[in-house]
Amino acid sequence: MINCHIPVMLDEVKSFIPISKDLNLIDATFGGGGYSKALLEEFNIKNLLAIDRDPTAKIFFSELKKKFKNIELFNEKFSKIDELIKKSKLSNESFDVIIFDLGVSSNQIDNPYRGFSFQNEGPLDMKMGSSTLNAYEIINSFEEKKLADIFFQFGEEKHSRKIAKNIIKNRTIKPIVNTKELSDIIRNSVPFSYSKNKIHPATKTFQALRIYVNDELNELKIALKKSENLLAPNGLLIIVSFQSLEDRIVKDFFNHKSGKRWRSSRHLPDLGDLGPITLKIITKKPLRPKDFEIDNNPRSRSAKLRVAQKI
Ligand SMILES: C[S@@+](CC[C@H](N)C(=O)[O-])C[C@H]1O[C@@H](n2cnc3c(N)ncnc32)[C@H](O)[C@@H]1O
Repeated sequence: MINCHIPVMLDEVKSFIPISKDLNLIDATFGGGGYSKALLEEFNIKNLLAIDRDPTAKIFFSELKKKFKNIELFNEKFSKIDELIKKSKLSNESFDVIIFDLGVSSNQIDNPYRGFSFQNEGPLDMKMGSSTLNAYEIINSFEEKKLADIFFQFGEEKHSRKIAKNIIKNRTIKPIVNTKELSDIIRNSVPFSYSKNKIHPATKTFQALRIYVNDELNELKIALKKSENLLAPNGLLIIVSFQSLEDRIVKDFFNHKSGKRWRSSRHLPDLGDLGPITLKIITKKPLRPKDFEIDNNPRSRSAKLRVAQKI
């Protein structure tokens, strides 16, 4: 299998990592291994633990393992990061760098059989790993209100109700089985002016489904809390996110743990107002990819990079 994923904001990620120090590092979203490979080649990595819930990560990892012996992969969800470390040979260590490069890789999006993309016809799957539900089950069995809520909450889709209504109408005739059918229903549910937007009318609904299938926001909230506890003093938590719901969670977590006790929405009650100050924010504002990176790799365009340091 060829690795089609181009690592995003890699130069910026590298710019935060100390060169002269021996490092224990966790790459919590191994993907095609682009970050891991570059970091192993350019930094003094004592040990690298990689995590990815997608079984295809094992293929790319085995390539890297031929060259580097100090690496270990867990084909698991990153919300289990603490349990995985306990199982590893580094159970008593703390970590100098933990990186999350969130979302999906090009190896996932570009494979039509995974069902992530409305650009390619494929089954309605969208599972990154072993989730209990897939997109087909949601689209063909959830009630209308629940569908509308998912599209609104996880896609910020303002036409969520109309889309949900049309899904129900279509599926009573026959099940909706593939990405093309779903994307046509969505296009026919939104006003024509919306279809002329820069983004495809199915973008937000597909994002919402993917987030729901993989429980992505809860995964992130749990993993952030656990990662902070695994960091060594001065250790870095480096997060690249690709959509505003994720970035808000990261921003709120960093603000809260650095003492600002501030949340971007009162509707995000997850963080209590008390607790010790354990992080220092390194990136006052999130870094964005440079124009030349966006030109070379348009998928990088929505990336935001935030870094915090353990006190
Ligand atoms: C953007 S890609 C990472 C690409 C990687 N940095 C590279 O250079 O190849 C995100 C990866 O994170 C994985 N992932 C997303 N959510 C996850 C989770 N909750 N647990 C484990 N892996 C996850 C996906 O399966 C995907 O392979």
